Amino acid sequence: MAYIKELSSFEGKEVELKGWNAQKRDSKGLVFLTLRDGTGFVQCVINVEVVGNDSFEAAKRLPQESSLSLKGNVVKDERQIGGYEVQVTAFEVISEAEENFPISPKEHGVDFLMDNRHLWLRSKRQWAIMRVRNEIIFAIHSFFHSKGFVHMDAPILTGNACEGTSDLFETEFYEEPAYLSQSGQLYGEAMAMAQGLIYTFGPTFRAEKSKTRRHLSEFWMIEPEMAFYDLKMDMDLIEEFVRSVVTNVLDKCKSELSIIERDTTFLEKVRLPFIRMKYEDAVSIIKGEVEVNGRTTIQMLEEEIAQLKSEKETLLKEIEERDAKIKSGELKKGEINFNTNKVAQLKNQVKEIEEKEENVPAWLDSARNFRRGNDFGGSDETVLTKMFGQPVMVYNWPQEVKAFYMKEDEQDKGYAKGVDLLAPEGYGEVVGGGERETDILRLKRKIIEHDLPMQAFEWYLDLRRWGNVPHSGFGLGLERLVAWICGLQHIRETIPFPRSYGRLLP
Ligand code: 4AD
Ligand code: MG
Repeated sequence: MAYIKELSSFEGKEVELKGWNAQKRDSKGLVFLTLRDGTGFVQCVINVEVVGNDSFEAAKRLPQESSLSLKGNVVKDERQIGGYEVQVTAFEVISEAEENFPISPKEHGVDFLMDNRHLWLRSKRQWAIMRVRNEIIFAIHSFFHSKGFVHMDAPILTGNACEGTSDLFETEFYEEPAYLSQSGQLYGEAMAMAQGLIYTFGPTFRAEKSKTRRHLSEFWMIEPEMAFYDLKMDMDLIEEFVRSVVTNVLDKCKSELSIIERDTTFLEKVRLPFIRMKYEDAVSIIKGEVEVNGRTTIQMLEEEIAQLKSEKETLLKEIEERDAKIKSGELKKGEINFNTNKVAQLKNQVKEIEEKEENVPAWLDSARNFRRGNDFGGSDETVLTKMFGQPVMVYNWPQEVKAFYMKEDEQDKGYAKGVDLLAPEGYGEVVGGGERETDILRLKRKIIEHDLPMQAFEWYLDLRRWGNVPHSGFGLGLERLVAWICGLQHIRETIPFPRSYGRLLP
């Protein structure tokens, strides 16, 4: 038995494949069946003259998602996905599916697809996304392994909050209150004091009572923690790490990314040095007080609004002209069809522009009115990264907007040595991290200020009592990275079974 992924080594030979009928059409004695076997998709041609009438009729009737095994000859065909076609000599149905598989090639609403996630995962696009996710995970482990980091696991059930108490999932642990972990970091710090360089890679939980395209309730986080690292070394590692993972995946997942129709122009820019700036400088840029490459954010956004307007006018004019042609009665049937399709396409483009026409003025508004000292919202991150079109690292944040464990900058009082990595194209924060506070008295004060129970953090304070050293780390949200690399509109497609507000099934 062979797998579709290996077909190139079987050119001109006969193979046996096992898989599922993903799609099928027939014409004049031929059935074109797209077989999927988990490793890929391939067109299999069933010819009545080869397999005989009975088999041919059975193939013609075979419902979508029936499982089968088949034998056939592998032929090179550049036009096919994967570059090969299988000319079937014999096939056998393993299990005939019921009629009416819920997910057909026609368009479906997102809610319907999410309700059928267990079946939707089989579609070509979802298959490709999961392959990219898999490659990203592998690239992450390879990177840290090559750098001598030890992979260690943090507990999922915990007795202390790491990232504030507002989005904790509470549960019960033998009659005691407990939480699902928001982050493995505090345990990561303890493990780094034992092993030097470690990383955790596990599920984390945040009760986000809203639906956004960037938030999940359950997501996977990669959290390296490094003894003797300061903020500068931390940022260097973030940059090297993200560059390594992204370039690796760009190299290895070319065919998957082309199935997803990802334009990788912006992604290629991870090869350039990342932009780094302090929070205060980022704010000056966002508010339009400072120019980048000769223009302010306000000018950029106003230009974008004007450009959208003119693009829309051009499209509307073309729609009008084509409509007039259709109605003129001078076109042949084929030409009418062509123009009708074209008009539908153009109308979709207009819709997309109209969506942007709503977003851009909102960004402009929030950029103008941004209050110095506040945390960034999604639109602020979008506006800032738009100015550069490549990843931006923002560091030295006001202490009030960051977690209790962040180290205060001695030279820059009131600012925490934290860093966020913001991805371009509207993806925003993918990494958050920084240098950790080592002063036990300041830590105790912050625990009180953040209204956290001191007793639950005593073990954490022990790390400052014995073997206290400067150390840093960061957390990368796996699903945010998958969304960015694949260019997805929404984070829900980045994980096999997403958990988010209002979604616990399937
Ligand atoms: O910025 P965050 O909250 O940082 C921490 O948890 C630190 N303890 C990490 C560390 O220093 N070890 O979260 C880190 C990353 C974010 O940058 C984002 O990519 C992702 O986790 N993330 C989410 N991803 C999906 N859904 C959510 N609700 C997320 N919340 C955070
Ligand atoms: Mg963060």
